[in-house]
Amino acid sequence: MSYSIAIDGPAGAGKSTIAKLIAKKKGYIYIDTGAMYRAMALYFIESGIKAGEQDKISEAAAEADVTISYENGEQIVWLNGRNVNGLIRTEEVSKMASSSSANKDVRKKLVELQQALAQKESVVMDGRDIGTCVLPNANVKIYLTASSHVRAVRRYEELSAKGESCSLEVIEKDIIERDYQDMHREISPLKQAEDAVLLDSSDMTIEEVADAIINLCKG
Ligand code: DC
Repeated sequence: MSYSIAIDGPAGAGKSTIAKLIAKKKGYIYIDTGAMYRAMALYFIESGIKAGEQDKISEAAAEADVTISYENGEQIVWLNGRNVNGLIRTEEVSKMASSSSANKDVRKKLVELQQALAQKESVVMDGRDIGTCVLPNANVKIYLTASSHVRAVRRYEELSAKGESCSLEVIEKDIIERDYQDMHREISPLKQAEDAVLLDSSDMTIEEVADAIINLCKG
C-alpha cells in the first residue's frame, strides 16, 4: 500500500524544503505540484497569452503536456518534451502561475496527473489543494504556514545570496498579493483541510518541522 503525506500552505512557508527532507528520510518520492503549475504558466507566457485570458488559457492547456521524472532524487519537469526546471522560478512565471492556476482546465489536467503519481508510489506532495482535493485520503495532512514577514525575509535572503538585488517591502507585498489570489479563487482555494495539522514554521527550524511531521506518520 502506498503512503501519502500532503503538505499545503502559502508560498515561502518552507513546504518544498521540508517535503524534500521528509521524502529523503522516509524513502518516499517528493512531488512538487507548484512546479507543474509553473510549467503550464511558462507555456502560456511563451504562447503570448496574458494573465486572465481564460479562454485562451483553457485552449492552450490542452496543448501543454507536463510530465515529471527524477534525476539523482531531483524532480525534473518536462513541458512538451523539454526540461524546463531552469525556467520556471522567475517572478514572471510566479505571477502567471498564481493567475493561471485558477483556471479549471489547468487544474483538472494537473490534478489527474498528481493523483496518478500518488497511486503508484509513497509520496510527499506539496501544493495548495493536496489535502483538500488531490489526496483527500492522505495518511497525514499538514497545513504549513509562517507570517508573511518571515516568508518575505526568507525569500529576500535567498535572492540576496544569489546576488540578485531586491527589496524586502516589494517581496512582502508580492507574497501578500499572491496569498490573496491563492486563497480567494473559486476552484480549490488554498485553505486548511479539516483534518490537517496546522504547523507554523515562523519560529521553527527545518529539522524541527520535518521531525514534527515524521512523528505524525505511523506508516
Ligand atoms: O508552490 P509554488 O509557488 O511553486 O506554486 C506556484 C503557483 O501554483 C502558486 O501561485 C499556486 C499554484 N498552485 C496551485 O494552485 N495548486 C497547487 N497544488 C500548487 C501550486
